[in-house]
Amino acid sequence: MEMHKNVRKSLQKLSLPTPIQKYFLAQKWDMDLGSNTNPFGGDFSDYPDVMQFDLKRLYLKRILSLNSPPASRVVLDTDNVLFTAGSMEGIDLLLRAFPHPNQDLVCIPSPTFSAYAHWSVINGLQVKQVPLLGNNLNQVDIEAIVKLNPKLLFICNPNNPIGTLISHPLLKKLCQSLNGFVVIDEAYIEFSEQHSSLFYLNEYPNLIVLRTFSKGWGLAGVRCGAVLAHKTIIDTLRYIQYPFSVSIPSQHAVRDVLMAPDKVYEAWEKIKNMRRDLYNRLSHRKNVIKVFESQTNFLMVALYNFEDVIRRLRQERIHVLDCSSEVLQSIRVSIGTEEQNQKFFEIIKG
Ligand SMILES: Cc1ncc(COP(=O)(O)O)c(C=O)c1O
Repeated sequence: MEMHKNVRKSLQKLSLPTPIQKYFLAQKWDMDLGSNTNPFGGDFSDYPDVMQFDLKRLYLKRILSLNSPPASRVVLDTDNVLFTAGSMEGIDLLLRAFPHPNQDLVCIPSPTFSAYAHWSVINGLQVKQVPLLGNNLNQVDIEAIVKLNPKLLFICNPNNPIGTLISHPLLKKLCQSLNGFVVIDEAYIEFSEQHSSLFYLNEYPNLIVLRTFSKGWGLAGVRCGAVLAHKTIIDTLRYIQYPFSVSIPSQHAVRDVLMAPDKVYEAWEKIKNMRRDLYNRLSHRKNVIKVFESQTNFLMVALYNFEDVIRRLRQERIHVLDCSSEVLQSIRVSIGTEEQNQKFFEIIKG
């Protein structure tokens, strides 16, 4: 497995973790007396499969058949996929693999998911938040970003907490213009009408796509996500990742949903319809300044009577995200069940 040329210098001589090395040994065996596990344990007494080839093939088959652009010729293989303990692990792995602490800069068009800045700081990196532009906060200041010459750029698309999408031409321009990696976090892509950036992964060697099973696939408790990128990027992350971070029960849960995805696909359509309905109802309220046009399973709502709504939501013990520090007088509310959405709407109505 070859390291990417931009790996942190201090990691260049690192060996693969032994469980991964073991996989590559020429000799195969029928009996494992080398792992010090308890042979009297149950279903989970062995370590998990570290390569997950079958699961990766099935995953690629599913995601590449969804929402694909016309005449898509993307070629992705198991070498282009790394499963992680949620996409949060993917974010942290990228920050540990490539930028140099106390030297490199991570650029984050904001407002966006707070974890990018959080884990960047933990990894000793400089963070530069560049404001998103436009009425829908879905334009990026490419010139400003290029000037910063970041080692990593994190773009959440569709964006959390705004819900809006950055267009493909803009994303492609970023990939073309930057020397560093462009990480596109597609945690909510299943709820979007725009196709994934995966479909131009072959064109841009600096593009990295993050995915998760926590949102659309309904498996937040399972802790599984994926990094999709060029082989040398994935290989590099294998040197750094805990070798068993995706457990056997997680792999089974992911396999089960991928084998029988129809219920989940139906839920996506249902959630999109409920989002449209709640969007329409909220947009007509006099106390609503703006509802952002969301391509996710949540809505960002700016309110004239923000304080009052927050107080009433608290009284009813309903949690929404207070986003007022990022977008004036706004909250982010998830699309819940019909009853939950109705209860929320009653409170907004006053
Ligand atoms: C944009 C975005 N990326 C990543 C994550 C983390 O997902 P995971 O549960 O896969 O770690 C979240 C969770 O809220 C998110 O909103």
